[in-house]
Amino acid sequence: MDKENHLTAETVDIDLTAKELIIIDQTRLPGETRLIRLKTAQEIWEAIYLLKVRGAPAIGIAAAFGIYILAARIEAEDFEGFYQQFKEKKEYLNSSRPTAVNLSWALNRMEQVCLTNREKSRRELLKALEQEALTIKEEDTQVCKRIGEYGLSLVKPGDGILTHCNAGQLAASKYGTATAPIYLGQERGYGFRVFADETRPLLQGARLTAYELHSAGVDVTLICDNMSAMVMKNGWINAVFVGCDRVAANGDTANKIGTSVVAAVARQYGVPFYVCAPTSTIDMSLESGIQIPIEERKAEEVTEMWYKERMAPEGVKVFNPAFDVTDNDLITAVVTEYGVARAPYREAFEEIFRRKKLNS
Ligand code: MRU
Repeated sequence: MDKENHLTAETVDIDLTAKELIIIDQTRLPGETRLIRLKTAQEIWEAIYLLKVRGAPAIGIAAAFGIYILAARIEAEDFEGFYQQFKEKKEYLNSSRPTAVNLSWALNRMEQVCLTNREKSRRELLKALEQEALTIKEEDTQVCKRIGEYGLSLVKPGDGILTHCNAGQLAASKYGTATAPIYLGQERGYGFRVFADETRPLLQGARLTAYELHSAGVDVTLICDNMSAMVMKNGWINAVFVGCDRVAANGDTANKIGTSVVAAVARQYGVPFYVCAPTSTIDMSLESGIQIPIEERKAEEVTEMWYKERMAPEGVKVFNPAFDVTDNDLITAVVTEYGVARAPYREAFEEIFRRKKLNS
């Protein structure tokens, strides 16, 4: 296995010659930075399900590279045979995690390219799929940077910023979404003081956000999830920035479990609560957050994972949703790559998508 520091390694990458997906195995961070190579549908599915690659944009990029790699191995006599197998593989990858809409968004983009190129030779069709997957990744870096610029306009030098889970470089191609204003502020000497929630039960805040920000030289303080009220009451936080897995048309936002608690606490203490959302994460087909599918995960993640020994009685009932939905009225603004959207969100998002169309 290749080993590299995560700051120089790509979160998600592809070996175009060997046709292999390369990811940092995030379940091993921060102790070990290990790059792993994946080539079968099952390997890719498991890497997404087991959170070896995670975070909405990174999942989308991994799925795009993944379906391209699988498509390159399809053996079929004609387009119909090829497309049939492509669709089966697409559906399989799409079943790995239900909440982050970037997964189906990226796979649908790849399917569209497949259909548009149906008359072309197999070689040309695969080239078009390869190009689309690379574009999805390239666009993500630009999107994150633009979100960072808009996010930075909402804060000032010396501010205290709280974030939940990991919406950082490890969740995207570069910059991250919620961390993009932090990284850009760092480059420009803003001197932010960042507070990272540890993010039970899978500790993305402790293992990933604290790790990547600390490695980048950002002033970051790790807190347990139940300490956000205290740091806000102390007046240490000027803004909350979080990422998202899916935003409904009315602005309701699904993000890592515990996000809605942070939003409620922020409201209590008058701290602005910003959701950083690439437009790929805004799902205008859903009226409200009630329609967002919420992933439920194994009880062991709560009862024994990360502990030396089991910390809950055998047989106790466990509820382990991976995400919660923050009601739109708790969200100060949604920061996209085409500007900052404020309530009423449906109209604001329509304007954002108009700008996106004008730019494409
Ligand atoms: O379960 P995870 O680690 O994939 O959850 C990730 C999050 O909730 C992130 O905040 C979200 O995907 C945005 S990443 C830019």
